[in-house]
Amino acid sequence: MNNYETFTHDVLVIGAGGAGLRAAIEASAGGAKVGMVCKSLLGKAHTVMAEGGIAAALANVDDRDNWQVHFSDTMRGGQYVNNWRMAELHAREAPARVRELEAWGAVFDRTKDGRILQRNFGGHKYPRLAHVGDRTGLEMIRTLQDHGIHQGIDVHMEHTVLALLKQDGRVVGAFGYDRERGRFKVFRAKAIVLATGGIGRAFKITSNSWEYTGDGHSLGYNAGAELVDMEFIQFHPTGMVWPPSVRGILVTEGVRGEGGILTNKEGHRFMFDDIPENYKTQTAESEEEGWRYCQGDKNARRPPELLTRDHVARCIVREIKAGRGSPHGGVFLDIAWIKSKLSNGEEYIKKKLPSMYHQFKQLADIDITKEPMEVGPTTHYVMGGIRVDSDTQMSRVPGLFAAGECAAGINGANRLGGNSLSDLLVFGKRAGEFAAQFAQETSLGEIDPGAIEVSARAALAPFEREFNQADGAYQVQKDLQEMMQDKVGIVRREDEMQAALEGIGALWERAARVGVDGNREFNPGWHTALDLANLLTVSEAVTRAALERKESRGAQFREDYPEKSAEFAKVNTIVWKDEEGRMQIRREGIPALREDLQKVIEEMK
Ligand code: FUM
Repeated sequence: MNNYETFTHDVLVIGAGGAGLRAAIEASAGGAKVGMVCKSLLGKAHTVMAEGGIAAALANVDDRDNWQVHFSDTMRGGQYVNNWRMAELHAREAPARVRELEAWGAVFDRTKDGRILQRNFGGHKYPRLAHVGDRTGLEMIRTLQDHGIHQGIDVHMEHTVLALLKQDGRVVGAFGYDRERGRFKVFRAKAIVLATGGIGRAFKITSNSWEYTGDGHSLGYNAGAELVDMEFIQFHPTGMVWPPSVRGILVTEGVRGEGGILTNKEGHRFMFDDIPENYKTQTAESEEEGWRYCQGDKNARRPPELLTRDHVARCIVREIKAGRGSPHGGVFLDIAWIKSKLSNGEEYIKKKLPSMYHQFKQLADIDITKEPMEVGPTTHYVMGGIRVDSDTQMSRVPGLFAAGECAAGINGANRLGGNSLSDLLVFGKRAGEFAAQFAQETSLGEIDPGAIEVSARAALAPFEREFNQADGAYQVQKDLQEMMQDKVGIVRREDEMQAALEGIGALWERAARVGVDGNREFNPGWHTALDLANLLTVSEAVTRAALERKESRGAQFREDYPEKSAEFAKVNTIVWKDEEGRMQIRREGIPALREDLQKVIEEMK
């Protein structure tokens, strides 16, 4: 251990997206000496890709909104397998977190009378997304970073954490390396907050950045935390489909919120064909009514393009499979049509959706003010993750906290758009606060040099193996991504998922034989080889959980069990690692909803 540079903090935050930054700020405000480790440069976290807005019941655009409606929308969207206490805390606290962000300098779009402007998004009853054009995540990160750097937080950029270190059952530190030079580092800490984001890179088509390899999920799982509801992977309905090099990049739901419509190659607006029973009374009956809703008419109901993401994605897949898709395997998303309604339509689109305008112009040579976009589903978000206490965000491992996408609970079977940014703020703050409190009550633990040496040897093992380009780290990663996309994707079946499980077993064996070329400095091949274990761990968890849940609910659609089942209506799936290192799975009943919250849901229905 003496060989490795060692840093000591009270609280170590792993990940510097919205949740990590918010946790670091709060822990620091709580008097803790805070360190933050991030895989990329500060300011480059995937949160910057969150576009459409932050969901919070501020009621600035529609005064009928309040936390109860937001809670009820979130539970309905999550198909009632959410951790209801987290959904409650989220809905209650999101407005304060947004106003706090504003006080720290976030520049939101404004209503005519100067309040934070809010836009429509799928599944939210009222316009609820506080936004900055379609660059909300970027503004959030800028604001949190500006605020955070004045708190004296130590930032370790371009570092990857390989293992969490424990003593007597609690976390006492982490072991990792710097990605530039490949040098090992030891981080001692009294409490650790995992805020590493998602797992999208386990799939071929994804909106997620290169960092999203399931690191936090896997670190937590290996340290003894449980993973909950890993089967629920959100496929965002609208990712780019053309050209191939940009396939999967997000096309914000804000396009539909501003009036964008989905059509097939026959020009038919197919979303009107299938309205789920539980949304019927909330959905527009005509194109005209849908447009009035987007323009803020409080008596109009939402267009069917703003149904929940799971449903919209499945409708798109149905059109493509039926041969009614666009030339490159998607459907059409048309915002240009609003020019027939608004005389300043072109300016309106550029003002409301500046990033989308540039994204399509530069990457696909499409002018979205004049022609429709081609879009299709893209792996976007994992609702499942580390199981945490709803109030403190601590996992079952003492001292180990998690927040944001790598933690689970609030979203249930399907997340509503915009709830991720508010989740980061609400639960990032809570994780930071309680981690600091835990650190205050705890002494620094001892690091076991033996555990470090085990991790260091495992990390260096690829250099000792023969490098075989044909079956190197990139090939194993690619084969995994293709298999997960094909066999554990939007439409799932028992036989295909069993085959995927066998495939994952074979890929574990191949990963254990991967050798790398070169040395430890600036070596992306080595980094990819080290990511494989995390990707395989989360892929196995997703597949086992998806097999276990023998029903279709929210983001999980099983062709062999196409209906919701009463048996699964009140259970979560839990994955954990047993003493022998094997992945185990069980079902666990969801605690009964508190009476007052049950009443809220009844009233909203
Ligand atoms: O469509 C979007 O802008 C994505 C937002 C989200 O996933 O919350």
